[in-house]
Amino acid sequence: KGYFTYDPGFMATSACESKITFIDGDQGILLHRGYPIGQLAEQAEYLEVCYLLLNGELPNAEQKAEFAKLINSHTMVNDQLRKFFEGFRRDAHPMAIMCGVVGALSAFYHDNLDVNDSKHREITAIRLIAKIPTIAAMSYKYTVGQPFVYPRNDLGYAENFLHMMFSVPADPNYKVNPVLAKAMDRIFTLHADHEQNASTSTVRLAGSTGANPYACISAGIAALWGPAHGGANEAVLKMLDEIGTVENVAGFMEKVKTKEVKLMGFGHRVYKNFDPRAKVMKQTCDEVLAALGINDPQLALAMELERIALSDPYFVERKLYPNVDFYSGIILKAIGIPTAMFTVIFALARTVGWISHWLEMHSASYKIGRPRQLYTGYTQRDFVPVDKR
Ligand code: CMC
Repeated sequence: KGYFTYDPGFMATSACESKITFIDGDQGILLHRGYPIGQLAEQAEYLEVCYLLLNGELPNAEQKAEFAKLINSHTMVNDQLRKFFEGFRRDAHPMAIMCGVVGALSAFYHDNLDVNDSKHREITAIRLIAKIPTIAAMSYKYTVGQPFVYPRNDLGYAENFLHMMFSVPADPNYKVNPVLAKAMDRIFTLHADHEQNASTSTVRLAGSTGANPYACISAGIAALWGPAHGGANEAVLKMLDEIGTVENVAGFMEKVKTKEVKLMGFGHRVYKNFDPRAKVMKQTCDEVLAALGINDPQLALAMELERIALSDPYFVERKLYPNVDFYSGIILKAIGIPTAMFTVIFALARTVGWISHWLEMHSASYKIGRPRQLYTGYTQRDFVPVDKR
């Protein structure tokens, strides 16, 4: 009694059973409901992947059209929500806005929400997937001082997001470049789910108390924000900016080896061979830059970092490979997404993963998440009155 398995960082603890996502870190395999991530990223649309994660099967043509229609009918947010935006400073980080505004949705959907009712859970999932691009785009528009752009329900999911990000009332002819919409859609798919990572575990833990699901997703967004997790994509671009030129790469890598700095976008708790998402991301990066005719010097920088890391024993011994965030920033930059929005894009795409895990947990019996600890403080001692201390 009183002794528990000590597992800091949950290196060896399975906290739940799940049928959603499988990862074999040694082989570099990632499957959603059995389908390899490479096939999904190349052949499926993001909304099909959402349907798959939520329901366990890919939709047929009719189910796909119905699902898209359902999502499109929930893209608007309550007009009162804009007041929450107005409470933020214009220079607020958009992830701070996301934590606050998504958490605020719990105030709009609380009293009539019964987490024990499957219909209530389903509509919650739909609302979140539908509204998160609207809120994400609003968080960007607010920080640049432009009016919010309403969702257009005749557009595809990624296309609509880019429309809300970049169209302005002064340019009614604005049209989203289909190459960019396709790349955005693929980035969403590559981030859709990743089993029990820190943010998903946070959503499950918060959800295990029966808390309001919008508040749980807000907790997930907060956990994602850190540079060791979703914040890495923003940190990669900052790192590339700091390195500046290819000539400085070798010197930077020496600093990584003396542990002065971390190589952002490298390493993973689970993948010790390669991150299968990074492969598709690099290929997408090449395609997007070629299609747009962009010659980004940061791509050359990133490739030189990768080349050194893959051949230097320091990185090889520690099994440090590029992860999903290493090349995503270069594509997002090419699409025109500002750096501060990179982690917001991750949050947008991961919302389906978070809510799928929340649904899975609530559709079976579960226990409140309650880790124990290894106590290293004082043994019992007597209280000392203030005049005797
Ligand atoms: N740069 C330099 N050294 C590293 C890095 C890195 N990015 N990652 C790990 N190491 C070293 C670490 O110093 C340690 O060395 P030593 O054995 O000499 O002490 C060894 O590799 C093992 O690392 P660890 O810290 O025990 O690994 P972890 O599983 O606890 O951490 C990680 C995983 C992702 C937090 C870490 O690799 C990291 O901070 N990477 C950079 C941030 C990043 O790119 N995160 C995105 C992850 S993928 C997207 C997502 O899931 O959000």
